[in-house]
Amino acid sequence: MSTVIEPKINGPYLVRNLKSLKNSKGADISPEKDVVFLCRCGKSNNKPYCDGTHKKVEFSSAVDNPKIGNWNDYAGKKITIFDNRRLCAHAGHCTERLASVWRMGETPWIDPDGADLEDIIAVIDKCPSGALRYSVDGKRNVEEEQADHIYISENGPYHVTGAVTLDDSSRNTDGIPEKYALCRCGESKNKPFCDGSHWDAKFIDEDN
Ligand code: SF4
Ligand code: FES
Repeated sequence: MSTVIEPKINGPYLVRNLKSLKNSKGADISPEKDVVFLCRCGKSNNKPYCDGTHKKVEFSSAVDNPKIGNWNDYAGKKITIFDNRRLCAHAGHCTERLASVWRMGETPWIDPDGADLEDIIAVIDKCPSGALRYSVDGKRNVEEEQADHIYISENGPYHVTGAVTLDDSSRNTDGIPEKYALCRCGESKNKPFCDGSHWDAKFIDEDN
């Protein structure tokens, strides 16, 4: 059975049939139960699991703009890059690794001819949020098939791979990519997706 994540309103992520859960320390903490509740308020004392603290802290999962966001395309000579700012977790991998293509403060901010094809593809493949896609010769890249998996990043979001279904009744999730990053600090303005707010919130999870 495939994995399904259901963000509960003002509560945790209810996750069904999760086969693989790993933390940033390399520990395999895959659950033995079919159903688990992962904290998304950031305040649980038993991370990554919910311990009910969200009620005490009156966690709100409300989002101002529940749309998934637009895909903007940047066509180059060899590659077209698609970018969805509302899915970006602002981890900075693209701007740090290939500043000649992902150009902070410039317009347009993506130059698809700014580096070698292979280098651009390598960066897009590493994007943890699914905010970047590409097509070469008119064919869109499809993520290599990966097992359903959640990786708990260091003091950051849950990285979800494997085309795990996101069953979120509070917002439109049509068009979400095969991988995405889910907020676990409680501070994102774009819940359930990470928007990089954990940096400002100085979110710390020493155990994971
Ligand atoms: S999440 Fe992807 S698009 Fe956003 S900064 Fe990181 S690599 Fe770039
Ligand atoms: S979501 Fe329940 S304790 Fe964080």
